Amino acid sequence: MFSYDLNPKNKLTEELDLLIKKYNEYKSKGLDLDMSRGKLSKEQLEISSPMLDILPGDSNFIVDKSDCRNYGLHDGISTMKSIFSRILNVNSDNIFIGGNSSISMMFDIISLYFTHGVCKEKPWSQQPKVKFLCPVPGYDRHFNILSYFNIEPILVPMKSDGPDMDIVEEAVRNDESIKGICCVPKYSNPQGIIYSDEVVKRFSKLHPRSADFRIFWDNAYAVHDLTDSKEELLDLMNQCIQNKNEDLPIFFSSTSKITFPSSGVSALAASEKNLRQIKNYYNHKTIGFDKLNQLRHAKFLINYENLLEHMKKHRKLLRPKFQVILNCFAREFSDSNKNLATWNEPKGGYFISVDVEQGLAKTVVELCKDAGVKLTDAGATFPGGIDLEDKNIRIAPSYLPANELNIAVNLFCICVKIAAVRKRLLEN
Ligand SMILES: Cc1ncc(COP(=O)(O)O)c(C=O)c1O
Repeated sequence: MFSYDLNPKNKLTEELDLLIKKYNEYKSKGLDLDMSRGKLSKEQLEISSPMLDILPGDSNFIVDKSDCRNYGLHDGISTMKSIFSRILNVNSDNIFIGGNSSISMMFDIISLYFTHGVCKEKPWSQQPKVKFLCPVPGYDRHFNILSYFNIEPILVPMKSDGPDMDIVEEAVRNDESIKGICCVPKYSNPQGIIYSDEVVKRFSKLHPRSADFRIFWDNAYAVHDLTDSKEELLDLMNQCIQNKNEDLPIFFSSTSKITFPSSGVSALAASEKNLRQIKNYYNHKTIGFDKLNQLRHAKFLINYENLLEHMKKHRKLLRPKFQVILNCFAREFSDSNKNLATWNEPKGGYFISVDVEQGLAKTVVELCKDAGVKLTDAGATFPGGIDLEDKNIRIAPSYLPANELNIAVNLFCICVKIAAVRKRLLEN
């Protein structure tokens, strides 16, 4: 393999000419390929489409002694509560079923804490400063919520088993203005990291200086395994209960990547004390969520065991797509070109996180875009869209068919190489 570091300038120039030639061949194809978001492919959407025929007009709409076509069951129907109770590992009584998006519920809760405070504490809006810890790289929509409320993000580097807990513990112990942390504990977005038992235990033992600090535990990928060996995440609520810290976490999840994104069912879970306030809030906010959608989901998913069977169908479609990307990276960035990119090999979730050489992520994303391949914006995995090292890129393999994915990832590798050779030529 041609080495980018062991060759003289004239050889690098030749290599660049070759790469540009290949790049222009791709560009001339008029590609229009989108790898920017974790959207479900058409085949994945079809897995759940039978659900849409499940509730004809002569169905039995009575659940928990209530007619789902009518007002009532404000906190959700029992089947969905018991399914989410298994997904989140929290007692059914502590589950609240919401609308079509867990991100929207997270927004609601932060908004509630701004206007009314956490339980009986002073509203965040009346406190001099509100900061959140942000494990990075992380999920852009979490950062968007924080920026909407002018919450100051404090970056916490991710390690291979979760956020750096030394930094988390020290920060919450010393800084009263730190009010929360956004976590994706299983198959994190974008790195696919599963928090280790030790990390979960340390979260459950946090002693924040501020009584209104909360852990926003967004378990969006709890059942989204890509391998047959089901990876276990230690049960945070149970750990918190053991440490008399059950008011610390608020859990979120949804069926967005189980059935239909933005037409699924979301849920949150919290301690009795937290849930009392949250239920009161939603009692004022809405007369009820879409119970017909809940009923459709309940009849289709049936129970947690059946949901796991359903997830195998997603896995069958997703796994080969991840493999297309990983095979291409292993081929293109090996031996002497190993340092051009490093990436994770996730066992679940929706993303592959790639670090290119420092200072090159924006260029790579731009080059891809100009040739018709759309990626998540460089920097999106950091608050404010600012990746100071400009090296992290999130790849979303789910949406494109495998043949198009193959084209897109090959082009991506060419773009990484073009950026790397140009950098060396400039440095020489
Ligand atoms: C970590 C995480 N949380 C939440 C969501 C979206 O959830 P919802 O569609 O329920 O708002 C996503 C989607 O990409 C995600 O990656």
